[in-house]
Amino acid sequence: MTTSLDPTATDTRFADLADDDRVAGSLYTDPEIFEAELEKIFYRTWVWVAHESEIPEAGSFKQATIGRQPVIVNRDRKGNFNVLLNRCRHRGASVCEVPKGKANGFTCPYHSWSYALDGRLRGIPYPDGYDEDLDKKDLPLQSLRVESYAGMIFASFNPDVEPLDEFLGDAKVWIDLFMKQGAGYPIKTQGEHCFRFRGNWKIQLENTTDGYHFPIVHRSWMSSVDAETADMLSFMTDDNAVTHALGNGHSVAIMVPEHVDLDHDDGSEKIQARFDHIVDELSKTMPADQVRRIVRSMHGAGFNLNIFPNVAMSMSFFRVLRPISVDETEIRHIALGMDGGPEIVNRERLRIHEHFQGPFGFGSPDDSEAWDRVQRGSRGAPGMPIMVNRGLNREGLDSNGHRTSHVTDETGMREAYAMWKKMMNDEH
Ligand code: FES
Ligand SMILES: [Fe+2]
Repeated sequence: MTTSLDPTATDTRFADLADDDRVAGSLYTDPEIFEAELEKIFYRTWVWVAHESEIPEAGSFKQATIGRQPVIVNRDRKGNFNVLLNRCRHRGASVCEVPKGKANGFTCPYHSWSYALDGRLRGIPYPDGYDEDLDKKDLPLQSLRVESYAGMIFASFNPDVEPLDEFLGDAKVWIDLFMKQGAGYPIKTQGEHCFRFRGNWKIQLENTTDGYHFPIVHRSWMSSVDAETADMLSFMTDDNAVTHALGNGHSVAIMVPEHVDLDHDDGSEKIQARFDHIVDELSKTMPADQVRRIVRSMHGAGFNLNIFPNVAMSMSFFRVLRPISVDETEIRHIALGMDGGPEIVNRERLRIHEHFQGPFGFGSPDDSEAWDRVQRGSRGAPGMPIMVNRGLNREGLDSNGHRTSHVTDETGMREAYAMWKKMMNDEH
């Protein structure tokens, strides 16, 4: 198919596919829609590529993917973040195949053209095969726009994309709240695992803002944890557990209202008995209020923040999605810890993460079974809509003028699909 990359062109093919209360089933199954999403969404807006703790020093780099295009994210000697297309300017080979590491630059394995961390072409072997018209300055690795907020690094193929600050908008307040789970320490990533499911990327995008499925799909997880933890995540009838649409496709789903601002502690929360050994250990060197602050932060922030289109800051981890094809998606779960914080706490945070999100955990495998089934089912009757109307009857506006409703409602999905519709119709 051909799609126009001219941002002033309008394309009405997608106008009728998303309404406020439903979207077309073909959004999960139509390869033509998928190709257009890559161009109109993934290659036009900001896409999350890294957290700064993943590339902590000069020369640190990691690989990432935007849509289908491989990129290298690195930190150079000046401390700048660079996001470079992983494609040699000579005949197109990838210049780096190591997932993560440290380097002074990147040398293509095919004919050894070498590039600096900022993408400049530094060397061409046997240059006498070229005349003096070949200027190395003209052949850097392609650089993307890159900006960061609170350690979250985003990149864009679109040179005219709006400033990241504007794109994140009201989500920034929630990013700041999310980072408070460091309990005074900066957040750091501490490992990840990656898996694929046989379903469309938007099924995952919906799931992070889907409180409705939690007590149903995650019944096995609920029955595997202590009573206090199960009680903490029992938000079905909690009126303070709400979802706010935040604009530009972003939303926040609050599941543990008392953990929205982890610096705020009225002292009423009982610390779970399962953490007694940690309290004992930390109390040897820390005042009681700091011990409490750290242990209250163990499960992460009390909410899932969905940043359109590809990252969720989900309680205590990042969930990053990468569209592979119309019916296949890669997910990366990146566990978070406290940079410089007590090791016993970071270790416990990893165990909690594995218990839900790990490949043998009680949470994510159940989620991905549901996602596979959504894809399988929606192959039947592609003309039948996907309903996202839950809670429309009780949706209101919050003090910022954003739509808000109970966390079990589909307000976050409606926000994501409103942005999807704008971008697919070239209105954003
Ligand atoms: S393809 Fe990279 S140097 Fe030839
Ligand atoms: Fe889930």
